[in-house]
Amino acid sequence: MKEKISIGILGLGTVGSGVVKVLKNHDEVEIKKIAVKDITKKRNIDGLNKSMLTDNPQTIVEDTDIQVVIEVIGGINPAFDLIKTAIKNKKHIVTANKELVAKHGAELFELAKKNNVTILYEAAVAGGIPIIMPLKLSLGANNISKIAGILNGTTNYILTKMDTEGREFEDVLKEAQDLGYAEADPSGDVKGFDAAYKIAILSSIAFDKKVDVNNVYIGGIDNITSTDISFAKEFGYKIKLVAIGQMANDNKIDVRVHPMLVPKTHLLYGVDDVVNAVMVEGDAVGKVMFSGPGAGDLPTASSVVGDLLCIVGDLLLDNTPIPLMRCKQRNGAKHLEIDNTRNKYFIRVNAKNVPGVLGDLGTICGNNNINLYNIVQKGVLEDGSARVVLLTEAALEKDLNKAIEEMNKKESINKVQNIIRVMD
Ligand SMILES: NC(=O)c1ccc[n+]([C@@H]2O[C@H](COP(=O)([O-])OP(=O)(O)OC[C@H]3O[C@@H](n4cnc5c(N)ncnc54)[C@H](OP(=O)(O)O)[C@@H]3O)[C@@H](O)[C@H]2O)c1
Repeated sequence: MKEKISIGILGLGTVGSGVVKVLKNHDEVEIKKIAVKDITKKRNIDGLNKSMLTDNPQTIVEDTDIQVVIEVIGGINPAFDLIKTAIKNKKHIVTANKELVAKHGAELFELAKKNNVTILYEAAVAGGIPIIMPLKLSLGANNISKIAGILNGTTNYILTKMDTEGREFEDVLKEAQDLGYAEADPSGDVKGFDAAYKIAILSSIAFDKKVDVNNVYIGGIDNITSTDISFAKEFGYKIKLVAIGQMANDNKIDVRVHPMLVPKTHLLYGVDDVVNAVMVEGDAVGKVMFSGPGAGDLPTASSVVGDLLCIVGDLLLDNTPIPLMRCKQRNGAKHLEIDNTRNKYFIRVNAKNVPGVLGDLGTICGNNNINLYNIVQKGVLEDGSARVVLLTEAALEKDLNKAIEEMNKKESINKVQNIIRVMD
């Protein structure tokens, strides 16, 4: 039996540094080399042996001693090519790279199968929360009907602050950037792309179909205002960026990310600040929820090193690592178009303060097969216009779009200012 397994790490940023720290407690793993972009950069990692660092990642993926490569560079280039070379050189892979797995997972899994190696990516979804392994293994007995998650800590932090402090999006975003919770270019988070990669990965596993991330409907939180949030609160909801994957009719799947009003009774209602959570509904288990830190050096390293030790445990025994965890080649998923989804809606309207305006709104909804659940007018604004909020029962998105078009043309209505879907 071997005593140590030699590994290489691509990247020594937030996650890579966490991995090095956590691995200090694991003697069965020897880090041979770590690739970085800038070899002269100061690194605050106790006991880091600088001679391990290289700015030539190729030397890691081609090193014959290295059996497992951890990829924590992120993005597509050069991570994709490096991983492909490592696989061709029979190295097992652990990655935290959601974008790469969501966009090119199918190709990588196929290549790994051909080369008889394993790719594990627990950290790619919800950082420190174990969700990939539970979905593949522990919940394997279930037919999964739905996954709903809060998968992006930055947007959850921003929405929580807007809710508790009554502040506007731009103001809280700036604070989040100053505190390091949001990136200088926040679009990947606030426009929903990051959560879309993650729900595409989870849906592929849960529904055993290849989900193309280009077919995931994506909406961000940058149009949510403190007015929307305070109305939602009054009705008993919080606004959250929710990622959903669910089975629909005709074997289609409905995968999307957008803001939603979450009711007090829902498991996701209490998931605040940077916390992430994933709720899974299965026919045998019912509803289960996983929650915890979705990012950060040590939480993410917990998932990366957990994956690594799964592989290392088998390699030490001279076994082929965990074939059970290998990704199957899946058939492509048929997607339900957003127009054909059914949702409840929150609609905020700016209307003229004239008699009959609530009637006009009700009539337009009725004519488009939309039942109203609640409609309220909240006073009169300084310019004399009226602020009206409607909550609907479940309706088809294409009917909703027709109703909104009619509202925007109606003389008594100035503008539909926001439309947000509502969770059951
Ligand atoms: N941060 C989190 O909390 C978190 C959570 C879950 C998943 N992830 C995922 O984990 C991955 C890494 O994220 P991170 O936050 O750790 O990123 P990061 O802090 O930006 O670190 C990236 C690292 O990659 C190195 N690098 C960049 N280009 C390189 C190249 N061409 N060759 C060699 N090294 C290169 C950088 O080197 P220098 O240090 O020299 O600049 C840096 O050490 C991403 O896929 C991310 O989505 C992150």
